Amino acid sequence: MNVKRIGIVGSGIMGSGISEVCAKAGYEVVLRSRTQEKAAATLAAIEKSLAKQVERGKLEEAEREKALAAIKAVSNIKELSDCDIVIESVIEDLDTKRELFAHLDDVCRDDAIIATNTSTLPVIEMASVVRNPERVLGIHFFNPAPVMGLVEVVAALTTSEEAVETARMFAESCGKEPVIVKDQAGFIVNALLFPYLNNAIKLFENGVASMEDIDTAMKAGCGFPMGPLALLDLVGLDTSLSILEALYDEFRDPNYAPAPTLRRLVSAGKLGRKSGSGFFDYQG
Ligand code: 3HC
Repeated sequence: MNVKRIGIVGSGIMGSGISEVCAKAGYEVVLRSRTQEKAAATLAAIEKSLAKQVERGKLEEAEREKALAAIKAVSNIKELSDCDIVIESVIEDLDTKRELFAHLDDVCRDDAIIATNTSTLPVIEMASVVRNPERVLGIHFFNPAPVMGLVEVVAALTTSEEAVETARMFAESCGKEPVIVKDQAGFIVNALLFPYLNNAIKLFENGVASMEDIDTAMKAGCGFPMGPLALLDLVGLDTSLSILEALYDEFRDPNYAPAPTLRRLVSAGKLGRKSGSGFFDYQG
């Protein structure tokens, strides 16, 4: 398939980051949010991110202008009708995603690939609401998408080899390193990462060390770029809770049972960086 136009559905941190990556890679991007206001706000955030890269000397002004001009922010889902690949990055809720996939099935061209950026949910559950499920797979970017080099290409039981190969080539064309993985909760990275993050919360709950010292220990002791609690804040505590719930649902392994503090913070509206506070504060 000659891939030219990418549709992105959802305007959270990931939708915005993936749109930026695709536009910089030379694709036409249709960024779809539920409202035109949200779509415009996401475009403004991408504009800010690109401007920062120009300021830091990481991007030429002409490249910034070209990338921005390549993104069309829309609210009408029908605008995705001529996209070659559509990647959804909406809330980690299976019913919401399944409803969206049924819509995308009606709207998208028959040969278009419909992908999910889900962190953990079963891709087959989304593929099963589409008439030709061989074109459905996972294309999983990491946060922050413009920086992290990995894309997990997730092949469901019904995904065709052609779709996997197209997604692999697409990820490479975005400057990412793709890995191919089966449709099992958590794929590779989150299956390994989240028991670690969850256990970091439990260490804090058990009073073993302060939040700051837990993070310092993993940065200074293991060379990780961020401590586990700061990383949870970056990913989003609501997203992290959904990931752990999905993993626990699949494996019933106590390592995946969400630490109570995580649930409490989410109930309190403390969702991490995006809400201004989580384990740490980000106001001001
Ligand atoms: N958009 C674009 N660029 C960004 C960015 C963003 N949101 N955030 C940081 N950057 C760029 C900066 O501009 C800078 O670029 P430069 O080196 O070319 O000037 C570079 O990244 C480093 O940024 P900073 O100097 O501001 O900060 P740090 O050096 O502390 O790096 C970090 C920030 C890249 C986030 C680093 O701490 C890191 O790699 N953390 C780990 C992140 C991680 O593990 N992500 C995976 C999470 S799991 C996941 O996503 C799965 C999902 O399903 C939940």
